[in-house]
Amino acid sequence: MKKFFVVGNPINHSLSPELHNLWMKRHDIDGIYKKIKLEENDLKSFIQDLRHEKIHGINVTVPFKNKVIEYLDKKSLEVEKTGSVNTIYKSNQKIIGHNTDVAGFELGLRHSKINVFEKSVFILGAGGVVPSIIYSLLNMGCKKIILTNRTIEKTEQIKKKFEEIEIIKWGEIPDFDIIINATSVGLKGDSLKLNFDVKDKIFYDVIYNPKETDFLKNAKNKGNKIENGKLMFIYQANQSFSIWNNVIPKIDEEVLNIIP
Ligand code: ATR
Repeated sequence: MKKFFVVGNPINHSLSPELHNLWMKRHDIDGIYKKIKLEENDLKSFIQDLRHEKIHGINVTVPFKNKVIEYLDKKSLEVEKTGSVNTIYKSNQKIIGHNTDVAGFELGLRHSKINVFEKSVFILGAGGVVPSIIYSLLNMGCKKIILTNRTIEKTEQIKKKFEEIEIIKWGEIPDFDIIINATSVGLKGDSLKLNFDVKDKIFYDVIYNPKETDFLKNAKNKGNKIENGKLMFIYQANQSFSIWNNVIPKIDEEVLNIIP
């Protein structure tokens, strides 16, 4: 039986097992996908289990997406560019780290028919997922990326990776076509203290639980299109699954309903 895990800390909230176990059942794969809470010290030996084929694949989530890099034999281009790993597997006797958040973000936007080509995108926040979103946006040909974060130093770190982005001070609001909330504000029902007096723009929140943060609710009330991070989450899982099992599983109503 193939064994898969998502590792993180905390990990209780993860819905990855629901997605992967459903897809394995549909494809008659003899496997099981579980979540496991690890400490940083456990990462090395856990990844060794993959080397010894006790485990078939690992998803990595917060706070380990960059901590696992030192235990890899090889990094995908997406990992090189973003410094972030969410999918690990073994191929040709090598432990390989990949980042399917990049494709997940793009496929999620395409699913929703949101086109970023030649558009200006304003990103709030500088946490772990931001380099993946920026890299994905650049691949899709957006015109301009403007980044802001409460702690400015973190944006400067990101600019070292992606020189083409523009940084502005927290609280300033530039012209944009699409705005992305990549901060953790909204997760607990809290609200960003920024006022966006615009309409006919696209407001995207990486948060999908709650389904509509205040950021999205306010934007919708003012006549903007809104989108949350649910499809990004589903597509990153879909891409991991296809790497491990050599088949692209379907995303249909039943799959979409796993995430409320
Ligand atoms: P992760 O790496 O898990 O994505 P993180 O590094 O904790 O999460 O990032 C959370 C993001 O939300 C950061 O950009 C953080 O801003 P700081 O870098 O200034 O901490 C942002 N954030 C959290 N609480 C915030 C608040 N009350 N107002 C504005 N930004 C906030």
